[in-house]
Amino acid sequence: VLLVRCHMKKSQRWARAMAILQELEEKCATPIGKLKQVADAMTVEMHAGLASEGGSKLKMLITYVDNLPTGNEEGLFYALDLGGTNFRVLRVQLGGKDGRVLNQEFTEVSIPTNLMVGTAEELFDYIAAEVAKFVANEGQDFQVPLGRQRELGFTFSFPVMQTSIASGNLIKWTKGFSIDDAVGHDVVAELTKAIERKGLDMRVTALVNDTVGTLAGGRYTQKDVVAAVILGTGTNAAYVEHAQAIPKWHGLMPKSGEMVINMEWGNFRSSHLPLTEYDLALDAASLNPGDQIFEKLISGMYLGEIVRRVLLKMADEACLFGDTIPPKLKHQFILRTPDMSAMHHDTSANLQVVGNTLKNVLEISDTSLEVRKVVVQLCNVVATRGARLAAAGILGILKKLGRDTLVDGENQKSVIAMDGGLYEHYAEYSKCVENTLSLLLGDEVSETICIEQTNDGSGIGAALLAASNSQYLN
Ligand code: GLC
Repeated sequence: VLLVRCHMKKSQRWARAMAILQELEEKCATPIGKLKQVADAMTVEMHAGLASEGGSKLKMLITYVDNLPTGNEEGLFYALDLGGTNFRVLRVQLGGKDGRVLNQEFTEVSIPTNLMVGTAEELFDYIAAEVAKFVANEGQDFQVPLGRQRELGFTFSFPVMQTSIASGNLIKWTKGFSIDDAVGHDVVAELTKAIERKGLDMRVTALVNDTVGTLAGGRYTQKDVVAAVILGTGTNAAYVEHAQAIPKWHGLMPKSGEMVINMEWGNFRSSHLPLTEYDLALDAASLNPGDQIFEKLISGMYLGEIVRRVLLKMADEACLFGDTIPPKLKHQFILRTPDMSAMHHDTSANLQVVGNTLKNVLEISDTSLEVRKVVVQLCNVVATRGARLAAAGILGILKKLGRDTLVDGENQKSVIAMDGGLYEHYAEYSKCVENTLSLLLGDEVSETICIEQTNDGSGIGAALLAASNSQYLN
């Protein structure tokens, strides 16, 4: 039985759809003035988060990384990178001078979704089994000196309260993970137990966030790297802070005078953020309501879902896809950001990619060119807002570092190491981040700042930090 529930005339429908789109555009607007307010708020929160534990929504976590790679790291090291829907295990033979990687190999394994919401033991057993398999295949090109234990850098991309360079308790899960019995526990201890259960002789010598791994990996080849940003499933940033500028640090003053800070900027929130009804509904329905608001506006896990929510409203209130709401459109997270990106980049005259995506992903067929154009515009509004806010976040860090202006007309160069699939694969998005950052900084300053995409910097970075914290060094 076909339920005819849409009583609007065609012209009324179209007017309503346009009104929804226009309202969205207005609510998502990020004029330069607003972005500067966001950047200022970011800087203020950075200070507050460094001042005291719990002083801000920005956790500004102390990483215990007070020495970044020099290029002299040497030997065979492993890394395990866990933080998204896949995890990677890699081994790297470090050359010992000039930042040379002699050899590297990796394997990538997807995490069954049930393990993302199960128990800690199940997840870590699964991972340890893959690590053991990978180690078993170590070839002649890689060498561990006789009698030495293999050492591993563990990139764990969630907020962790570290207790040393190689230990730390999970504060909470983010992105799609929710494993209650791991919260509050030392993730290195959990991994180590699982490794032992597999009978593998291996020791974790560094626990790092992906932002910290990316910073370390970037610094290995580029001494001007001052910060790292991840724009992927989630989003976050880390940077090098003066240890003396961290009032909440009561430990020894590091020799270098520096400490890497994991900002956990995904949890940033400010009244200046352009939040819409769709964002509030997405947040309320999420695994972590009230948390990670910045992340929910700008990262890959959420952009497609925001677009889906707007399309659902258009289907419901403007009958954009005919008399009934296409059932698939009601499924959370069914429209992924790669689908959105493909539609956004569609250059064919009849927007064939948009048509196919709507059909294959949402089972909406026979869309008109006009409707497809609306979809592209919608992708553009949502992606642009995210990218511009990410640029504002970067400006916030540069302000904190005093690198948003020219010092005595000097040209100190600042490099931001960038990683993450969103930035790598969504060209309109990354272009917009760069353009917006240049606009915010002005021509002169923006010539001294550069965003450099690193290729799996975080894995190599973890291996490098495993090396510089090896038990065999003195
Ligand atoms: C989430 C995590 C954070 C990580 C980021 C990027 O925001 O909380 O630790 O760095 O995703 O992967």
